[in-house]
Amino acid sequence: MSFDLKGLIASRLGENYDLHARHLNRTLVDVQRIIGFDRVYANAQGAWLYDLEGNAYLDFLSGYSVYNVGRNHPSVKRAIHDVLELDLPNMVQMDCSLLSGLLAEALLKKTPPHLDAVFFCNSGAESVEGAIKFARAATGRAGLLSLDGSFHGLSNGALSVMGDEHFREGFGPLLQSCERVPKNDLAALEKRLSTRQFAAFIIEPVQGKGVNLPAGDFYQQAQRLCRQYGTLLVCDEVQTGLGRTGRWWGFEHWDLEPDIITVAKSLSGGYVPCAAVITRRSIYQKTFSRLDRCVVHSSTFGRNNLAMACGLATLQVIEEENLVERARTVGAELLARISKLKEKHSLIKEVRGLGLMIAIEFHEPREMAMRMGWKFLHKVEPELFGQMLVTGLLSKHRVLSQLAGHGMDVVKILPPLIIGEKEIAHFVGALDSVLDACRKFPGPMWDLGANFVKHTLKRSNTAESATKAG
Ligand SMILES: Cc1ncc(COP(=O)(O)O)c(C=O)c1O
Repeated sequence: MSFDLKGLIASRLGENYDLHARHLNRTLVDVQRIIGFDRVYANAQGAWLYDLEGNAYLDFLSGYSVYNVGRNHPSVKRAIHDVLELDLPNMVQMDCSLLSGLLAEALLKKTPPHLDAVFFCNSGAESVEGAIKFARAATGRAGLLSLDGSFHGLSNGALSVMGDEHFREGFGPLLQSCERVPKNDLAALEKRLSTRQFAAFIIEPVQGKGVNLPAGDFYQQAQRLCRQYGTLLVCDEVQTGLGRTGRWWGFEHWDLEPDIITVAKSLSGGYVPCAAVITRRSIYQKTFSRLDRCVVHSSTFGRNNLAMACGLATLQVIEEENLVERARTVGAELLARISKLKEKHSLIKEVRGLGLMIAIEFHEPREMAMRMGWKFLHKVEPELFGQMLVTGLLSKHRVLSQLAGHGMDVVKILPPLIIGEKEIAHFVGALDSVLDACRKFPGPMWDLGANFVKHTLKRSNTAESATKAG
């Protein structure tokens, strides 16, 4: 009997969480159950997910910014069908495939002319690993500098330049010669760069954790210092690239001229892993410097036809549907509409972002009842309030969003760039309603928070008993 994928899915959909608890990451299953994210999605289209009963969920998470063109875009889907139908020779390896050449050509049309060489790989973290190696090989230096609060992926090299201690804990020792400097601190940056030990200074144009933007001309000055001391500037565009911030690349907002950029996530339209390092030819050739080093950095699946075809189709969709401009205008509208809620809800401290990468930060409210709820949650763990809102948005309004990072009162949204008035109105209405519900303390919204408190305390008690037992 031939393999029947449709039958398999039809007969077993719904077993998702049990299968994962048994065979995969059961801690993630526990968390999803506690925060009420243990839904079973059956279909997806554009900015919407549908569960088994056909209920629609607004996807303002976009698979962490994978779905800039929306889910299951027909043009990207057709490219996959075409690749399969053509029975193309794939990953011959000792040849040069047409599709990877074409995708490199198409990507370079979207980057400034000084960036003229592309390396393909499979994930954001892998593109950061590549950038680290290219920078070290090109400068002959070992040091890597990054910013506090940064996120660059979870493989060992990427983790070494990570600015969030939480992710590094328990995995050391990582790469040597990696240091971090505080955001917006030019004096600290110059102090480190002037040692001339650093191959690269890596930044996310807009930091994903917290959606943080630089103050004033920090990036321009940082670039000047990098030039002065011979350090390469790497812009990690894994999340900010491909239109997310309302420009093709995040660095364009500050007129930067990075030496290396990393690209991933949305590059293949959300179907197939696909990532790239884009740099100057002079830097690239320092890695592939001799005939015997022609594959000294490579990855078996890096230029595979499915990824390349999806990349080509995705770039065309972004262009044809004018998604970069759309992210800019629709993002500005969404940001303005959320900001307007500030007049009504004293819980909102700030709404910030660029394009369709938006954060809503909260602080202690003025109203007495809500302040009691706020203090109750913050006494246990700072991020419980944000998580309560994220859970409220999903459970009461079927909106997917996320907490922006550890220890933050920040909710983050990354909608697909295709959204319009319907999606904006749905989100703003849902947020307004969830914040209205917070006015009642005690009340059903705070009960969600109380449930997290119960689980958090249970976890701490278990950890304490384990420590004592150890
Ligand atoms: C800026 C940035 N760099 C790198 C990564 C790692 O990408 P991946 O998860 O594909 O390895 C991420 C993922 O969120 C990211 O946001």
